[in-house]
Amino acid sequence: MATLLQDLLSLAAAGMMMVTPPLNTAAPHNDVNGLLYLVNRQWRVSKVYTPELREADVAGQVRRMRPEAAAALEEMFAACKEDIGVKLTSVSGYRSYQKQSTIYSNKLSKVGNSQARADEYVARPGASEHQLGMAMDVGQSGKTNLTAGFGSTEGGKWVREHCWEYGFILRYEDGWEDITGYKYEPWHVRYVGKEIAAKIYEDVMPLETWLILYRTESLFDLVITQE
Ligand code: DAL
Ligand code: ZN
Repeated sequence: MATLLQDLLSLAAAGMMMVTPPLNTAAPHNDVNGLLYLVNRQWRVSKVYTPELREADVAGQVRRMRPEAAAALEEMFAACKEDIGVKLTSVSGYRSYQKQSTIYSNKLSKVGNSQARADEYVARPGASEHQLGMAMDVGQSGKTNLTAGFGSTEGGKWVREHCWEYGFILRYEDGWEDITGYKYEPWHVRYVGKEIAAKIYEDVMPLETWLILYRTESLFDLVITQE
């Protein structure tokens, strides 16, 4: 119990907002600079949060990410080229709160101001993993459209099968919409580090669900240790 209370106090101190208490999501990891920080519709990043960033040395645009994620992306893109000869490209990495706000407004205009439709694919400001600098939208050389079709391309299939080896997970798989809140996005990868990515890949579940198990197991371990 003490741990949960400490987590809640740390969240409050970090300026996190919980919009509605969701039944289907775990409390976020409490370190915004940590590997497992959860960002989604319910759990948002502070408006002023900006991570340490560097440009990933890969082909493409909007290449800034947190340094450890940028290094992993470089490794992953090089491996894909080496394995199957496909050149992956970065389409959209770090996005500031303001940038996300612009993207959301643009999407709204495109869908006749329907918030429901805009929300299918675009996070509201503060609710995007891109603001953490831990997410990348991946494209293939010559095809930077972020569409479901990416999942059926050679590059898309390779990313699904191998991204965990470099510390990334797919966040928005087909069929996970009710939990993640977003439609299928085979192009969006989230960095969580190699060790945890391997576990999540094996467990085949959204980060939201996985964190509930992880926290339950951690608390269980704590109780066992104390006995
Ligand atoms: N497309 C994802 C949900 C984002 O906007 O962060
Ligand atoms: Zn994305």
